[in-house]
Amino acid sequence: MKNSIRFFCASSLLAVSLSCIASDFRLVSPDGELAFEIGVDSQGKPFYSVNLKNLPVISNSALGLKADEFVIADGLEMNVVATDSVDSSWSPVWGEFESVRNHYNEALLNFCDRNGLQFNLRVRLFDDGLGFRYEVPEQKNVNYVTLRDELTEFNLPADMTMYVIPGDYDSDEFLYTISPLSRLREAMPNPKHSESSRILGLAVQTPMLMKHPSRPLYVNIHEAALVGYPAMALDVNPESMSLSSHLTPDKTGVKAYLQVPFVSPWRTLIITENAPDMLASQLIYNLNEPCAIEDTSWIKPQKFMGVWWEMFTGGKTWAYSDKYNAKPGITDYAALSSNGRHPANTANVKRYIDFAAANNIPALLVEGWNEGWEDWAGYKKNRQFIFDKPYPDFALDSLVQYAADRNVKLIMHHETAGNAADYERQLDDAFRFMKKHGYDAVKTGYVGHIIPRSEYHSSQWMVDHYNHVVSKAADYGIMVDSHEAVRPTGMMRTYPNWVAQESARGGEYESFGGNPPYHTALIPFTRLKGGPMDYTPGLFEPDLAKYGKGNTSRGLTTLARQLALYLTMPSPLQMLCDLPENYQRFPDAFQFLKDVPVEWSDSRYLEAEPAEYITVARKDKNSADWYVGSITDDQPRTATVDLSFLPKGESYEATIYQDGDDADFRTNPQSYKISSRKVNEKTKLKIKVAPGGGFAIRLKKN
Ligand code: NOJ
Ligand code: CA
Repeated sequence: MKNSIRFFCASSLLAVSLSCIASDFRLVSPDGELAFEIGVDSQGKPFYSVNLKNLPVISNSALGLKADEFVIADGLEMNVVATDSVDSSWSPVWGEFESVRNHYNEALLNFCDRNGLQFNLRVRLFDDGLGFRYEVPEQKNVNYVTLRDELTEFNLPADMTMYVIPGDYDSDEFLYTISPLSRLREAMPNPKHSESSRILGLAVQTPMLMKHPSRPLYVNIHEAALVGYPAMALDVNPESMSLSSHLTPDKTGVKAYLQVPFVSPWRTLIITENAPDMLASQLIYNLNEPCAIEDTSWIKPQKFMGVWWEMFTGGKTWAYSDKYNAKPGITDYAALSSNGRHPANTANVKRYIDFAAANNIPALLVEGWNEGWEDWAGYKKNRQFIFDKPYPDFALDSLVQYAADRNVKLIMHHETAGNAADYERQLDDAFRFMKKHGYDAVKTGYVGHIIPRSEYHSSQWMVDHYNHVVSKAADYGIMVDSHEAVRPTGMMRTYPNWVAQESARGGEYESFGGNPPYHTALIPFTRLKGGPMDYTPGLFEPDLAKYGKGNTSRGLTTLARQLALYLTMPSPLQMLCDLPENYQRFPDAFQFLKDVPVEWSDSRYLEAEPAEYITVARKDKNSADWYVGSITDDQPRTATVDLSFLPKGESYEATIYQDGDDADFRTNPQSYKISSRKVNEKTKLKIKVAPGGGFAIRLKKN
């Protein structure tokens, strides 16, 4: 594999249809089980296929690029430029493992037509999947590129079971549809939410999961290292069992403005024979560039609380005043008075700080602290949100000091209402303001249509924006948690200050009708493969009607399940979303949230099936303790927890937080029980999980 080989197209005379394309080059994974074959057909069109143990995963599928300046899709000759093998490892700043092995075989292939138009394809094969990307080199007659289409296809070998959300240029806050490919058209709902940017026709977003109907095969398609390029959705053609790349356009239909040389993001396929291996895969991080930040000591994984859920339970507002209807674009706040329903006020924030301090929670997010919320979703003006103007009832400096005196950090909130252009203009001022006042983490938000030009959230312009914000934040020593941004593609390896993103239907939806239990048993297989999520777990009071404020939504979860989510949805930034008074009602269960860490040195997926159940064990990075979390869908089950991962001959004290015998997420969500026992590596626990339930275990070394 080490030597460069020159390989000329041999199939052009022979191949007349897809089924008889000669494959000109074959690359295999380090364990020899996964194979990538590539060649050109009689018209010089490139095609690739993927096999696992000689059985098809992707059947012959097209490649190519189409721009105003060129079409590189046929009349091509393929040459193998170079091959390579790499076996190294790297240590993430945070994550599920202390060390990640990066082991692959690589090939660089050149496709060139007779006019000299060309692209290279770089392919990397790992034991658990592969990535390939287009690399367009400098070439005669091409400089600027107005990209119209990427012609990448993924042809499927069977009527795969699809786990997908609808294609939409602006939002990924959807529930998943689970359906055979052949019935997807009928099964996929037409979401009302952000209808305007729904992709016409049948399309899905990545990361998406597929399962083979009759053999052990799980495939996740996504992308890695999304830089300078729009995000990719997939058009679905159930009749031909085909998926094809659908890049997010700008408002004029152009997909990307580029200049040679450039590279596309990696097109990734995680391919495993069982579900736990899919969850453990680090392939997308491996395809990202190493950490770009030299000194990462300031990046601190942490739990946090928020002056936040009060705005969702009903009646409370981010806004200080109710006067917005009468007066869009308010500037003189001193002339207004509080509506009395504004939780980001000094006394209330102090209450949260006291609670966080008393319970060792190191950070507190405060939303609704700054001017601009009165008319934020409607009338959008430049400098609507000003990121250094606290409301009159939020005594910023004294609150920062009050928090610091109690070892608590405040987390900044920058809702942009989609006005990304204005945010960029204010960015340096906003970050300087944060540093001056002792903030070192920010939650950003992009609710609404994007300014300028009403760009889409997943367009090239916005991808550049999110990456710019994160790299500038790194310059200032600021951690970022972005909401409503494009779904992550493993860029957190390069910028580990990008500690979390939302980019899926998160916990906030427990207040808008609820997240059915299968949702959190599925997103670790899909959305989470791109990076951690600020899901906002920790909901102890799921019945919002109890607040008597008009919101009758019900969280679709048991209380014990909420504890398990800290293990099944790992994130270096993990919220405790509920109100202090709800945690005070259940102090024994709250103890688990006080104990559970957010940094891991090892992770073992013990059992899993997408959208059904997950049981995972993780080792605390800073102690000898292990933690186990398990969730189910709406069906009860008995989980098997085989503790053979514990070090031999060591004794551990297990504290088990599980659903009560009569627990059910619909009728009795707050029934739980806590027990303790001694365990060691020979112990196998059988634990009952209620419908919509879960359990969490702390294994403390004796
Ligand atoms: C939507 C975010 O997901 C949520 O967390 C935030 O509170 C609101 N936008 C307001 O910024
Ligand atoms: Ca959101």
